[in-house]
Amino acid sequence: MLKRVSNGIIERLEDVTPAVQRAMSDSGNARLRTVMDAFVRHMHAFAREVNLTEPEYDLAIDFLNRIGQTTNDSHNEAILFADAIGFSTLVCLLNNGNAGATETAAALLGPFWRANSPRTENGGFIVRSPTPGAELFVTCEVVDVRGKPLAGVDVDVWQSSPVGLYENQDDTQADMNLRGKFTTDAAGRFSFRSVKPAGYPVPTDGPVGELLRAQNRHPYRPAHIHFLAFKPGHKTLVTQVFVDDDEHLESDVVFGVTRALVGDYRRHDHGEPPAAGIRAPWYTLNYRFVMEAGEAILPKPPIK
Ligand code: BEZ
Ligand code: FE
Repeated sequence: MLKRVSNGIIERLEDVTPAVQRAMSDSGNARLRTVMDAFVRHMHAFAREVNLTEPEYDLAIDFLNRIGQTTNDSHNEAILFADAIGFSTLVCLLNNGNAGATETAAALLGPFWRANSPRTENGGFIVRSPTPGAELFVTCEVVDVRGKPLAGVDVDVWQSSPVGLYENQDDTQADMNLRGKFTTDAAGRFSFRSVKPAGYPVPTDGPVGELLRAQNRHPYRPAHIHFLAFKPGHKTLVTQVFVDDDEHLESDVVFGVTRALVGDYRRHDHGEPPAAGIRAPWYTLNYRFVMEAGEAILPKPPIK
């Protein structure tokens, strides 16, 4: 039976916040009570601080509605909004690296992870349809916080093409192009062949794009490769490794770049290529991921 909590009759502006808090005070779920109480207090304080006008309120409601209307199976505008206001990175750093006290290898998931990337053998290609660009050889090691190699870690990899588009945004790429799922070997290693990714603008044809334009912000992300490492007994590591010479490293539109995540994408102009038939220049990336102990939870894929 639902209880009827007496909120009291609103007589003045100051009555509203405590009335809402009283109405929510009986939530059976203690965490829900804590989160919603703080959410309401901060939202009300925000409206008071900026003296929110009614046209601004209408604009905000319309903005939120359009975020929902713009979201579909292949595009997630809500994540994009959280990313563009730094909220995703804030939540990431709160939940990894001892709540921001120590450096973490984690970074925001972004809107383009798809579950069920094709399983690929170590050393294999993630290029699945013709994708012109500089050849890239990636070798990674996954260790625990004591530096012990972790075998049997499933690692999803996804990246944009050398023209800055993910396969789901680009009809010229095969389904699952530049995506793969690897398993670390006994030495905690996995490797793959790809092409050097390019930076790209986040989608700007929805409400988030309007916001960026109104704020005179560019929409670019520095080039990167995404990784999601999963092994029971370890906190799922969601991260990205950035191309070190990208012009947008210090102005990532979604605030994802931390020092630890700037990779050494090394250019090679001479010498013995790592595979037959490779023309210079080619690139190599070696990277070491550290997984913290914890619960292995997979995020909900933002798109299908
Ligand atoms: C991405 O890296 O895939 C991404 C992250 C945030 C917004 C848009 C794209
Ligand atoms: Fe990305």
